[in-house]
Amino acid sequence: MHARRRTVLTAGAAGAAGLVTACGSSGDGDTGAASAPKTSRGATPSTGTGKASAAGSAPRGEALAKTSDIPVGGGKVFEEQEVVVTQPEQGEFKGFSAICTHKGCTVVSVSDGTINCPCHGSRYRITDAAVVAGPAPRPLAAEPITVTGDTIRLG
Ligand code: FES
Repeated sequence: MHARRRTVLTAGAAGAAGLVTACGSSGDGDTGAASAPKTSRGATPSTGTGKASAAGSAPRGEALAKTSDIPVGGGKVFEEQEVVVTQPEQGEFKGFSAICTHKGCTVVSVSDGTINCPCHGSRYRITDAAVVAGPAPRPLAAEPITVTGDTIRLG
């Protein structure tokens, strides 16, 4: 079977009437107009999340929330600080990184006892951030928090 398909290279016909193309004119050069390589499945996805794993960007001592902001048996995501605070039981607060250990998305919600990543469906238990579901390879990192009175702070 000769399933090879010939790609016809259109010789850089930049001679568009009217609009001036920004590239060097006089497109007579025989620069091998490399056609875009076809990406086959299985190629490394290389999904650039843009943000390089923000390591410890959360300033210490910053007041995050009031204890009353965190529902018992639930939690809250602080996107800006990239922290999730949960309250598995009344008066017991836990802090975790909000950065999913799978591909680095920021988790978005806490519901039904789990912290949820929107990207590929990973879910982490609110008590210890253990992986309950999804492709995440490991628990969310612990993020130290301090509760003073009714104020929750980082660090
Ligand atoms: S990045 Fe969170 S599940 Fe993939």
